[in-house]
Amino acid sequence: MKTVLVTGGGGYIGSHMVKLLERKGFSIITVDNLSNGFKHELIANNLIEIDLLDSVAVNHLFASQNIDVVIHFAGLISVAESVSDPNKYYENNVIGTLNLLNAMHLHNVEKLIFSSTAAVYGHPQSEMIKESHEKNPINPYGKTKLVIEEFIRTLNKNFKLQYGILRYFNAAGADPEAELGERHTPETHLIPLTIFAALSGEFELNIFGNDYPTPDGTCIRDYVHVSDLCDAHLLVLKKLLSCNESMEFNLGNGKGYSCLDVVNAVEKISQKKVKFKFSNRRDGDPTQLIADSALIREKLGWTPKFEQIETIIEHALNWETKIKRYI
Ligand SMILES: NC(=O)c1ccc[n+]([C@@H]2O[C@H](COP(=O)([O-])OP(=O)(O)OC[C@H]3O[C@@H](n4cnc5c(N)ncnc54)[C@H](O)[C@@H]3O)[C@@H](O)[C@H]2O)c1
Repeated sequence: MKTVLVTGGGGYIGSHMVKLLERKGFSIITVDNLSNGFKHELIANNLIEIDLLDSVAVNHLFASQNIDVVIHFAGLISVAESVSDPNKYYENNVIGTLNLLNAMHLHNVEKLIFSSTAAVYGHPQSEMIKESHEKNPINPYGKTKLVIEEFIRTLNKNFKLQYGILRYFNAAGADPEAELGERHTPETHLIPLTIFAALSGEFELNIFGNDYPTPDGTCIRDYVHVSDLCDAHLLVLKKLLSCNESMEFNLGNGKGYSCLDVVNAVEKISQKKVKFKFSNRRDGDPTQLIADSALIREKLGWTPKFEQIETIIEHALNWETKIKRYI
């Protein structure tokens, strides 16, 4: 049985991945400093609570465990916060990852899946973004991810590190069994905030910018279901275990939805009104990000199960209704 280290397993995407890996019979070790994650039931028995900035603890972890593959989700994720506090992002995301990669190298762990992001591309030069698109991030969050990507490629060239770099567009939705969901504190993502506005009836959603060059003036994003993201990780994991290739893939559905499309879909599915207001654009937000994910579909047969925005919202709504965070 292969042992997978999941960093950031207490977080949104990491927790869904732990659930899938457990179902598939992998042995799992989770690392999280719980700065943004939760000690949920699925990781209660396999969580090692350390900070990746603590290089001694990270080295000790690799010295004491037989790890075959690392899936590295841990990181800070807010574009807006990275603009206001770039140091925090460079320190946590870059130095934390360097500590992890150094420990992997020292202990001969040679397989890695890294959570990257559409933010590495910057302003799109084409309607849909392929992996070959130029990488010119416009915010510190995207820049930290690009620095890490470059370092991973260097380790691949100079040493034996074999990697999968996965660039997610907007992760969204929740476990279809409503056991897990998205729970960031503070919440900054559009779908949970829109559901909050619908369920609370009082909270007013802030939509940043209505003067973008899009049909309704609001930003357009490609929402991809968290379970579909996890399925893609599993395919990449199996590939890394069975061959010596490295790979880089975009993960998205190839469909763009504006902020107002999301508001309309939440109103339709929840049957409740969403209060919202427009405010100024935020620094670091491109107008539109839509993935071309043909490569992973062709190479690994990735087939998203929940492509419709309505299904993504329905699963998120089921989770929010169950945990009663906003009611
Ligand atoms: N959510 C998205 O839409 C999205 C899109 C693109 C890429 N990503 C990337 O996917 C990954 C997971 O995102 P998420 O939405 O699950 O975020 P999340 O905040 O829910 O999870 C990240 C986890 O990492 C942990 N963590 C952060 N810094 C750490 C450190 N120094 N040491 C140990 N643990 C640490 C946090 O406590 C948290 O549990 C991130 O790397 C993010 O950049 C996310």
